[in-house]
Amino acid sequence: MEVKTFGVIGAGQMGGGIAQVAAASGLNVIIMDVSDAALEKGIGLINKNLSRNVEKGKLDAGEKDAILGRLKTVTTLEGLAPCEYVVEAATENEALKFKIFEDLDRICKPGVILGTNTSSIPIGRIAARTKRPEKVIGMHFMNPVPVMKLVEIIRGIATDTETFKLTWDLCVKFGKTPAEANDFPGFIANRILMPMINEAVFALYHSVGRKEDIDTVMKLGMNHPMGPLELADLIGLDTCLAIMETLYDGFRDSKYRPCPLLRKYVEAGWLGRKTGKGFYEYK
Ligand code: CAA
Repeated sequence: MEVKTFGVIGAGQMGGGIAQVAAASGLNVIIMDVSDAALEKGIGLINKNLSRNVEKGKLDAGEKDAILGRLKTVTTLEGLAPCEYVVEAATENEALKFKIFEDLDRICKPGVILGTNTSSIPIGRIAARTKRPEKVIGMHFMNPVPVMKLVEIIRGIATDTETFKLTWDLCVKFGKTPAEANDFPGFIANRILMPMINEAVFALYHSVGRKEDIDTVMKLGMNHPMGPLELADLIGLDTCLAIMETLYDGFRDSKYRPCPLLRKYVEAGWLGRKTGKGFYEYK
């Protein structure tokens, strides 16, 4: 099936970024979110990103308008019925994703691929909620989506080769470099990244160092573009905690236990950049 209209569920930092790169690649994009306010915020961010690129001379003003013109918004999943491919980038909550996939399976045409941007929930578990498990796949973008080159593509146990190939080709069309992973908790990216972030939180919890020093060590000592605590704030501390819980539940290995300090921050509503406070404060 040729993909002309691409659906994205969620207009947050991940969904908005995915919609932006899909529209920039020439596809018509339908973004679904539950409220007009969320959609306005998402489109506003895309507009801001594109305007910055125009100011830098990286994008033609006409092309910016054309990209924005390819974006349409809807507030119900039914609005995604015309799509030939849909990717879900809702909150990292298993029950919510299950419900979305049950509904999408009913709404979307037969053969339409249903991708999920989940950062760690098993693809097989999501696919099992549909009658088309062979068409369900992980399409895991990195934050910030317009900048990061990688998309991790995760095959569920039932995902067919056609679905995998089409997803791979779409990622290339979006200007990304795909990498293939199998369906184990955290896949590749978060299996490796999150224990490092969690360990940085433990280092803070145990007063091994101040937050600034922990981040400086990893930035200047290991050439990471951001320190692990800054990066946790960018990703969202709730997302980091949810991923650690998935790793811990999936492997039943104490090396993946979430740091109590991470949980404490999340309980306090200190989720990082999106709430203005995490390990650092943001104006
Ligand atoms: N949206 C769009 N563009 C952005 C952006 C955003 N949120 N943030 C930065 N940029 C752009 C800037 O406009 C700039 O573009 P130009 O090169 O065209 O000028 C470019 O990115 C570099 O930005 P800055 O110069 O402002 O800052 P920087 O050099 O420090 O880079 C960064 C910022 C790209 C975020 C860099 O710090 C970085 O790579 N950090 C690590 C990010 C990372 O590890 N992401 C993966 C997280 S894990 C994940 O997402 C998966 C998961 O499941 C949790």
